[in-house]
Amino acid sequence: MAEDLVIPSTTSKKEKYEALIPQIQGLLYGEKNLMANLANIAAALKEAFDFFWVGFYLIDSPDELVLGPFQGPVACTRIKKGKGVCGATWEKEQPIVVPNVDEFPGHIACASASKSEIVLPVYQEGEIIGVLDVDSDRLDAFDEVDKKFLEKVIELLR
Ligand code: SME
Repeated sequence: MAEDLVIPSTTSKKEKYEALIPQIQGLLYGEKNLMANLANIAAALKEAFDFFWVGFYLIDSPDELVLGPFQGPVACTRIKKGKGVCGATWEKEQPIVVPNVDEFPGHIACASASKSEIVLPVYQEGEIIGVLDVDSDRLDAFDEVDKKFLEKVIELLR
């Protein structure tokens, strides 16, 4: 049975990630079902950081992502390759940190409250399968610490 997450509230972002990662590892342990694991990762990140929106877009066809497990307000269902931050991350296969979404050409605004975001490619068995998208209602909410630790979270899926 899944145990409650234990996330210290007073610690720094780095310490929160350091506490969270072994807990996510525990949640995924022994479970091969991708959707179940993505759903628990989204829930764990939302619970630990109270991000505005956190979730996955998964490759559904050669040129389109489809919405996967997420936590937060309802979101756009489909994103074309190369479009918005998610589509650009898929195309480039590189994490993208956007300090101000209004300054990202072609940003797809699913919610006007979203002000900054980070998107990272997600791999399984060496193949890109989609992206992890994390949105904040604050400007400039994401940095190298988020990039480093969210990459570690994604690596737990490999
Ligand atoms: N902002 C994203 C779209 C997805 S939502 O924010 C959930 C983008 O430009 O790719």
